[in-house]
Amino acid sequence: MNLHSINTPSLILDREKVRKNINRMEQHISTQGVSLRPHGKTAKSVDVMQMFHEPSRSGITVSTLKEAEYYFNHGFQDILYAVGISPQKLDRIFALIHRGARITIILDSLAQADAAANAAQHYRTRLPVLMEIDCDGHRSGINPDSSLLLYLGRYLDAASFLDFQGVLTHAGESYGCRGIDCIRQTAELERTRAVDCKMRLEKAGIPCPVVSIGSTPTATFGRDFSGVTEVRAGVFMFQDLVMAGLQVCHIDDIALSVLATVIGHQKEKNWIIIDAGWTALSRDRGTARQIVDHGYGMVCGFSGKPINGLYVSSVYQEHGVITHREGKEIVMDRFPVGRRVRILPNHACATAASFNSYNVVDGSEEIVHQWDRINGWD
Ligand SMILES: Cc1ncc(COP(=O)(O)O)c(C=O)c1O
Repeated sequence: MNLHSINTPSLILDREKVRKNINRMEQHISTQGVSLRPHGKTAKSVDVMQMFHEPSRSGITVSTLKEAEYYFNHGFQDILYAVGISPQKLDRIFALIHRGARITIILDSLAQADAAANAAQHYRTRLPVLMEIDCDGHRSGINPDSSLLLYLGRYLDAASFLDFQGVLTHAGESYGCRGIDCIRQTAELERTRAVDCKMRLEKAGIPCPVVSIGSTPTATFGRDFSGVTEVRAGVFMFQDLVMAGLQVCHIDDIALSVLATVIGHQKEKNWIIIDAGWTALSRDRGTARQIVDHGYGMVCGFSGKPINGLYVSSVYQEHGVITHREGKEIVMDRFPVGRRVRILPNHACATAASFNSYNVVDGSEEIVHQWDRINGWD
């Protein structure tokens, strides 16, 4: 099989680029003297996660219990489920723990802590817990300055079957930065907010051995990791246009693309129509607020090299419209019906989520493997 013979739209993964992205991050984090706990939500693929080396492959992060079960079934034992726990998921967590997994949950409320403590008591099984801290107002987590920090810390520390491990935070605001200085400041805020919480908890007599932080931008540009015990990141494995816009990577580092076929033209409008719409490319518009807006993706030739100025400017369910970003006339003869192009994604996690497998290439047109992905929740 090769890129000419497979169906379109299809997801293409360049294994050599993934390898380089992983090695670069592993090396960077290890020189900082902290552990990398890669996030399995980007790849949702055991074949990709097995490309990590020790020690980073010995502890991973997941975003669904389906991922947790899948990775555990493939030999990953130390798994951090880094989405706030909902009480009805606890039975599934204990089923995994009883099979030998070490699953850590996160929470930021007394209601969740109560549910976790009751379930752990019911199963008479110890459950590791991290408290989620909101370091930048991005999403969930406890305000680090609130009295809830110590209140919840005491509750978790005292609960007989809960193992309170420490604090976790995620600097999601880093994706909105303009420039490396902003990312560095966000990284420092992420670190200091988490470390301050640890210090407040320990001053109150509550041991807090784990300080878990991370996002791809802050992991890449953070300069000081003191007090941190582990860094979580995921999107760096594939990289994408948002990360390139943040200067986290170069366009050439992006390992993921969608293979699409030209299905028509609107010559008077200077449009090329392809068979990849939002179901294939996603509706993610993460580059819209960046200096270069890539629409729904950057257009590359068959070999994966960007074609100057061409991008997917609009999408329908199964159609994508390619135009020139400066309105220059496109030589339509270069893109006859049936010609194939590759589209680089704004957000790798969102684009990959539409597909059940990767067509793996090693820089050429041959497909050397097909790797499954584990989408969904059940
Ligand atoms: C809790 C948590 N940790 C880590 C990450 C990884 O960040 P990135 O996608 O920037 O690699 C995410 C991403 O959403 C996350 O939600």
